[in-house]
Amino acid sequence: MPRYSAGFVTQSDEIEVDRLPVRGELPAWLSGTLVRNGPAKFEVGAQSYRHWFDGLSMLRRFTFSAGAVSYANKYLQSRDYERSTSQNRIAMASFATDPCRSIFQRFLSVFSPNATDNANVNVAVLADRYVAMTETPMPIEFDPHTLETLGVFDYERDGLKVATTTAHPHFDPWRGVLSYATRFSRTSEYVVYAVPRGQRRRESLATLRVRKPAYMHSFGMTERYVILVEFPLTVDPLRLAVSGRPFIENFAWEPERGARFHVIDKDRGSVRTHRGEAFFAFHHVNAFERGDDVIVDIAAYPDSGIIDALYLDRLRAGYPIPEAELRRYYLRPGEEAADYDRLIEDSFELPRIHDEQVGGGSYRYAYGVSTRRETPGDFANQLLKVDVHERGVRRWAEEGCYVGEPVFVAAPGASAEDEGVVLSVVLDADNDSAFLLVLDASSFAELARAEAPHRIPFGFHGAFFADD
Ligand SMILES: [Fe+2]
Repeated sequence: MPRYSAGFVTQSDEIEVDRLPVRGELPAWLSGTLVRNGPAKFEVGAQSYRHWFDGLSMLRRFTFSAGAVSYANKYLQSRDYERSTSQNRIAMASFATDPCRSIFQRFLSVFSPNATDNANVNVAVLADRYVAMTETPMPIEFDPHTLETLGVFDYERDGLKVATTTAHPHFDPWRGVLSYATRFSRTSEYVVYAVPRGQRRRESLATLRVRKPAYMHSFGMTERYVILVEFPLTVDPLRLAVSGRPFIENFAWEPERGARFHVIDKDRGSVRTHRGEAFFAFHHVNAFERGDDVIVDIAAYPDSGIIDALYLDRLRAGYPIPEAELRRYYLRPGEEAADYDRLIEDSFELPRIHDEQVGGGSYRYAYGVSTRRETPGDFANQLLKVDVHERGVRRWAEEGCYVGEPVFVAAPGASAEDEGVVLSVVLDADNDSAFLLVLDASSFAELARAEAPHRIPFGFHGAFFADD
């Protein structure tokens, strides 16, 4: 078993601690809650989930106030969690695990809201509500203080019948929350939509018809455009309905299709498409406009093998994990070909930026996880701060430590883009424990660490909600 396998072991304890032991000094201004999401239960009864993305969601929170930090963790009480734990078996179909079902049930689960609501990927604010999200269109509302589950967030009747979506929405200052979803049918569609501020209704901005929809985990956004990058990992929707295989295993890698970059005008709904060589990605880092060019920074893999590498049996057996590279794609009007260059030598994943500084090309810093060059194929074991102007990096790493997505929090009244802190939940593999690491975002030096009361399985994403 590899050292990092403790990050894929179920954590059954749900606890609350008023004050964590802190080494170093937390900034006095840091006030608010970091909520993180991720799978933390990998078996139900005698059955095991097959893929990291399938585990049942556990919310974790670190709340900062006056130089101290408290902690709590709680399982998200989704319908899937309740059904599965009460029946003591895996009750609903997810990304790569499917309990025995008839073809008819499967048809229902793909094309109706009967699919899993195990919202284990991310958290966000939608219509002033705190929600946990996954790739089925059923966000689940929770209380960020108690981590109590409040139920499925219902969109107002907007007629948008979609099967999958992204857990990585963007925020557009004029339009509200922007996202996209896929409708599977004989002729499928990607629907780009907005949820206007304070409303519970999705408003379609553009639709793109597609014969074989691609698996896409996130998207890019600039002031004027939404950018959907269609990787050649695609599905025949009919196969999805009748194959009897778990969701993602119906998708096939078709590198000859290449990658398609759809640049969608938010005002007009018009689309221009660029093409590049085949690659795959989960995460866009940022996108911006430079004149009429659109620049897309993305954490790219040569192919979709990373999805296979994240099956739990492989992770626990220590198979080498493919590494993403930070690429910058150039989409120029009148030029169909999308070309790119690589920004840094280090691998780069789980990217975050100072959200308020997106667009306009002014962004300079990205934060992410990476694998040290001395340990190729290992799980993420260093944090990076990337200067995309100078193409330089700063690193944080410690022997035996595996790092989670770094979340940037701006200092109050900050003038520089990197004035603030970076927060990351770190697994200390040798001690079977975890801590919250606080780095100075500018120097990338450690300010403090707060010792968690137990081992915390690896999470995917989270957000910092400042106290207002
Ligand atoms: Fe993600």
